[in-house]
Amino acid sequence: MNYYIHDPLDQIKTCAPEFLLKTIEEHKIKIVSSGQVPEGVYLHYSDNKLSLSTAKRPKDKPTYVDFTQPQILRRLTEHGVRSELLAKCLGKNFTFKTALDATCGLGTDALILSSLGLKVHACEISPLVYLILKDGLERAKLNESLKVLLNNMTIWNGDSLNYLSTTSQQYDVIYLDLMFSSSDKKSKSKKNMEIFKKLNINNLEQDPEEVLEQYLSFDSKRLIFKRPLKSPLIKVRSYSHSIKGKAIRYDIYVD
Ligand SMILES: C[S@@+](CC[C@H](N)C(=O)[O-])C[C@H]1O[C@@H](n2cnc3c(N)ncnc32)[C@H](O)[C@@H]1O
Repeated sequence: MNYYIHDPLDQIKTCAPEFLLKTIEEHKIKIVSSGQVPEGVYLHYSDNKLSLSTAKRPKDKPTYVDFTQPQILRRLTEHGVRSELLAKCLGKNFTFKTALDATCGLGTDALILSSLGLKVHACEISPLVYLILKDGLERAKLNESLKVLLNNMTIWNGDSLNYLSTTSQQYDVIYLDLMFSSSDKKSKSKKNMEIFKKLNINNLEQDPEEVLEQYLSFDSKRLIFKRPLKSPLIKVRSYSHSIKGKAIRYDIYVD
């Protein structure tokens, strides 16, 4: 069960943004007041921000999306973005125009791809994660320097494999960033890991090779698969090369 906390409950219609109310209804998210703090992960709207918290770690700062933080804005400058590992994954003088971020999570990588000049469609399977991303994007649109980037990015709530099998749209680049195992503590904060685990979207039970094969069955010029640095390389026929960081690795598969 997914929860949304609102105080006082009878003011939800006047305080919460419309997209939130619509998705709450669509996904049968249960609305409760903070007196009834539930188990698991819940949504909360305060200070004009939608955030996610977990009942197990109540003292943690809630998780929300804020693309206007100086460290993110620095990464998105022309100079900053060129030094991103994701930029290196596209190669020098690339001519790709479109990308599907198949596992967009909190959207930072999608925004990086967009600031590299790609038109990005980003899919997120969890309605709760989708909602905090959507809220963060709406707030970021008020920032002039982010407006253009965000206009090149669309987000969609659902399974990207379903999306790919029903759309006629082809993407030059498919980007895949599954959850890493919880032993890989460097790559994700413990708090976010806790949230993703609670939402049952850690993809840990899935065999990465099987997942990769599924995405490779769709046409694209390049598939980028983010992996823990030391994980075994999945060397299927279209494997080209890897770009390595300190804790992660991007494996590149080409058409
Ligand atoms: C590691 S996070 C991605 C982080 C992201 N790259 C970023 O920059 O914030 C993985 C996300 O993929 C989502 N996910 C997993 N399987 C998915 C699928 N089949 N379709 C869409 N989203 C999926 C999970 O819900 C999770 O939010």
